[in-house]
Amino acid sequence: MAARPFIVAIDGPAGAGKSTAARRLAARLGFAMVDTGAIYRSVALAARRAGIAFTDDAGLARLLPGLRIRFEPPPAGDPAAGQRVLLDGEDVSAQIRTPEMSLGASAVSARPVVRAGLLELQRRLALAPGNRGAVLEGRDIGTVVFPEADAKFFLTAAPEVRARRRCDELGARGEAAPYERVLAEQRQRDRDDAERAVAPLKPAADAVLVDTSGMDLAAVEGALAEAVGARLAEGGRRR
Ligand code: DC
Repeated sequence: MAARPFIVAIDGPAGAGKSTAARRLAARLGFAMVDTGAIYRSVALAARRAGIAFTDDAGLARLLPGLRIRFEPPPAGDPAAGQRVLLDGEDVSAQIRTPEMSLGASAVSARPVVRAGLLELQRRLALAPGNRGAVLEGRDIGTVVFPEADAKFFLTAAPEVRARRRCDELGARGEAAPYERVLAEQRQRDRDDAERAVAPLKPAADAVLVDTSGMDLAAVEGALAEAVGARLAEGGRRR
């Protein structure tokens, strides 16, 4: 029987550098990339469109089974656009990145019914036939979604560094926001994510902790690639 895909789990708070590191690492290794935050964001968008409150467990439970969320490579000729997120066939990549959907994703991700309902999808996307490996980026990949992952990382950075990065990112998209507001919203999200009852944000006991505060993107990618390379050479943690 073919070995299952090699699973890389990258968890940590917003702004720690997970997305870029995960994207670059997946490209470098030829692995699939699963942005699980985009999945929670898509659920929030679908709920808002359906008029379902982010706290309405019964409504969310009805909504989830019918949602079709999938990822597609960036459009040919525009690799910088990044992976596309499709919700029921519609490209919602931009719509799920608004501040409203950031808060919405944080709210729906605190509902046990949503977390349980998305487990299957996250595992299926990573283990899809044809995947040699997969890099999953999120908050609970190493603790809940793939406790048996072959390589686990927990990325962090000082709150001020993360807020500064977020400001730069928003500015580059033409959506400049005041640093103080970005920092305050981030603190709120950090609190919500860390204090929620289900799958709170915390490193897996066997995760490699990486503080990216003083590192540039290439250095983060290099550190992760080196650790993954060592695990790959050992054959991973095959079942
Ligand atoms: O990584 P992100 O900012 O796109 O995530 C959006 C929200 O979803 C964030 O508040 C944390 C939550 N999330 C989660 O609870 N579990 C995950 N595996 C991924 C994201």
